[in-house]
Amino acid sequence: MIKSLRGMNDIFGEVSEKFNFIIETSSEIVKKYGFSYIETPLLEETELFARGVGASSDIVGKEMYQFIDKGKNNVSLRPEGTAGVVRSFIENKFDKKGEKQKFFYFGAMFRYERPQKGRLRLFHQFGCESFGESSVFEDLTIILMVRDIFEALGIKYKLKLNSLGCETCMPKYREKLINYLDEKIDNLCQDCKRRRETNPIRTLDCKNNNCQKELSNSPKITNNLCESCQSDFDLLQKLLTQHNVEFEIDSNLVRGLDYYTKTAFEFVSDEVGSQNAIAGGGRYDKLVSFLGGKDTPAVGFALGIERIFELVKLPKKELTGYYFGTLDSEYLANLYFLASSKRKTEKVFIEYKKRTLKTHLKNALKLGYRYCAILGSDEVENNTIWVKDLIAHNEEIITQDSF
Ligand code: HAM
Repeated sequence: MIKSLRGMNDIFGEVSEKFNFIIETSSEIVKKYGFSYIETPLLEETELFARGVGASSDIVGKEMYQFIDKGKNNVSLRPEGTAGVVRSFIENKFDKKGEKQKFFYFGAMFRYERPQKGRLRLFHQFGCESFGESSVFEDLTIILMVRDIFEALGIKYKLKLNSLGCETCMPKYREKLINYLDEKIDNLCQDCKRRRETNPIRTLDCKNNNCQKELSNSPKITNNLCESCQSDFDLLQKLLTQHNVEFEIDSNLVRGLDYYTKTAFEFVSDEVGSQNAIAGGGRYDKLVSFLGGKDTPAVGFALGIERIFELVKLPKKELTGYYFGTLDSEYLANLYFLASSKRKTEKVFIEYKKRTLKTHLKNALKLGYRYCAILGSDEVENNTIWVKDLIAHNEEIITQDSF
């Protein structure tokens, strides 16, 4: 038997209802904030992610589905959505026009990770990217949108917040951190020894207990911000408090992607196990210019759809629409005709096989239909149809013309 690949799931039944509910709810909310839908390819040049997400990141270094296509192009399945949206923003010259653009997207992402609960190789994100706005109010807006989405979905969360500084303060901080790492280097894990060379700040969120202990007194980025980053960070905290958004500063929150500047955040849940990040994002003011576009500030987020499946409660389903059935197969063509006309305005299900009235009623209820419409010999003779309302529990015989 051919099975799906490890870490790649089919989505159907109640879970697919949750999937659609998450996307519909999130889309409605972000449209109110002025975001419009963008669809970018699942496959891009590997170079885009290597440069965009960062060659030293685990995502690019270890987790990409990368291959050479038939035209000898080095391509990769997207591991995240931001880089592709930035590529499109530049390719379509929005940077040159200096236009503010707000995009949302949802879809499949691929990371060759070790699968476990909440960690898949094929997963889906819903995300937003806002270009051209350097005001910290836009960082606030992005966080409020995620809050609105989780509130609408009935999901409890904690918000972790950090600032990763800018070109002025980050390099100085990095030097300080490297000096500190050098004092501890013999006691750090192999990964952290490598990170010291490639991306020192990634040592801060190393999961190794010993590294965490060794790094507990490391210099903190939040004590090393330049004046402008500090004042933006202070203002963001003040604004969040004014909007009743609770948060916790986590100066070890460095994120797994290299493009962040200033604001970085993660929404975490206590109810989903060890992979507890349900959304993440932040500001990436240098990514557009880094990928060859005109310097454009930007900020965004993405939430992991699979990570929140078990947290989402679907609204109670109302019975809706019409179930059609016959007591004798020879009336099916007639029944089908009546059902088709109803389909213009209602959700309709047609049972092609003849059944007893009792079975039809039971099935209509099981499938979630409000009205059970039945054709038997009396109805056909009199040009009528028998309809029962399964909510109001009343039944009537209606002429086919008025039906
Ligand atoms: P990220 O934190 O890598 O950020 O991913 C966002 C969310 O995707 C995570 O919080 C998590 O819920 C979900 N996720 C990540 N990896 C997996 C996995 N292997 N299995 C299941 N769910 C997963 C980004 O991707 C950035 N592009 C977000 C962003 C947008 N930053 C600015 N704009």
